[in-house]
Amino acid sequence: MAETQVALTAVPRLRGSLAVPGDKSISHRVVMFNAVAEGNARITNFLTGADCLSTIACMQALGVRIERNGDEVQVFGRGLRGLQPPTTVLDCGNSGTTIRLLTGLLAGQAFSATLTGDESLRSRPMLRVVEPLRRLGAEIEGADGGKRAPLTVHGRPLRGGKIELTVASAQVKSALLLAGLLADGPVELTGKTASRDHTERLLAAMGIDLRVEQGRIVLYPPAHPVFPYPLSLRVPGDPSSATFWWVAAAMHPEAEITTTGVCLNPTRTGALDVLRAMGANISVQNQRNEGQEPVGDVTVRGGPLTATTIGGDLIPRLIDELPVLAVAAANAHGTTVVRDAAELRAKESDRIATVATELGKLGAAVTPTEDGFVIDGGGELHGAAVESYGDHRLAMALAVASLTAEGTTTIANADSVVVSYPSFWEHLAQISMRPGQT
Ligand code: S3P
Repeated sequence: MAETQVALTAVPRLRGSLAVPGDKSISHRVVMFNAVAEGNARITNFLTGADCLSTIACMQALGVRIERNGDEVQVFGRGLRGLQPPTTVLDCGNSGTTIRLLTGLLAGQAFSATLTGDESLRSRPMLRVVEPLRRLGAEIEGADGGKRAPLTVHGRPLRGGKIELTVASAQVKSALLLAGLLADGPVELTGKTASRDHTERLLAAMGIDLRVEQGRIVLYPPAHPVFPYPLSLRVPGDPSSATFWWVAAAMHPEAEITTTGVCLNPTRTGALDVLRAMGANISVQNQRNEGQEPVGDVTVRGGPLTATTIGGDLIPRLIDELPVLAVAAANAHGTTVVRDAAELRAKESDRIATVATELGKLGAAVTPTEDGFVIDGGGELHGAAVESYGDHRLAMALAVASLTAEGTTTIANADSVVVSYPSFWEHLAQISMRPGQT
């Protein structure tokens, strides 16, 4: 990835309406699941971020015909047993969702495949998927006994079984459900099942027999080869991307920003709950269902914010939003505590360390703890030279912080936004009103 640097100064007014790009989690899934469907599907508003392009490239390397024209994608499904042995290593780039979900999908196939990714991905924990998949009979090798990528999945017949999830991770949950599609009996998941539920919604819509109860999910492998049905859909806007604008507007004294067509799935809207608890002025219009997901238009107006506590069950509902919520907390009166969020250390960067260090350079008082941070908010932020560590969400959170900081903020490695939000810098320019603009 090219190393670009972006220089930003405070913006006097933020105004406008943005259609944020398609949801990253749904974009990955809808390509991967349709690749093994019995028929063809057309997807619109697909996220063309680098992560989702990695998923397309991997599925193509597995013999699936996929045609993309901008954000429109056609997937020519090959059925659950129609994937081809790849002739190359599958490169998942920076994408945890690609490598973890594919590991599950490939575990029951009739061939072997090796999955790897960039330096960040190769340092992230993989045993969380490898270990429970092994309990279903999967044969997976990896660096350090399967703790890290590269992972080699030797596809083989899988058995059903009961697995208790010990980490609230949609990637782990999804990997096991995908493995279950090829198992010889039901896969039952208990424990920490509360995480984003797009896999459950999509597989059910594709005709897979899936029972979801409080704390328990059971997937019955399809007995008939018409499943999964192909599923054409428009991907709703990504709430994780919209949160950058929600925070920017909420903390800025002269702001009003609307984000249209955003996915409002309750497993994804923790940031809205937190911003409301901080006193933000938020209204939601045009609530409707699009495909399997609730969506709406969200308008946020600027005003004073107060500190809050973020922990417990809220964490999986806003895990990706914590870097930018830390920026809101730095601009809020009082002390915000984020706890129960040790998962932040396993993301694209160690986000407890990187958020504390980089926001600290802008003058924010962020104290890292083992499972989160403590932020003494309300002080003035000032521009500084900061670093994204190649972490897309950190780069965008720092850009939001610059909007009220005194002086110039320069962000190194700013290109990392292409991972999830390629049009981020254009959207930022669009809502930034300088004197003379209306
Ligand atoms: C994702 C799940 C989350 C999230 C990631 C996307 C998904 O990760 O942080 O950005 O699409 O399933 P975990 O499953 O590791 O919590």
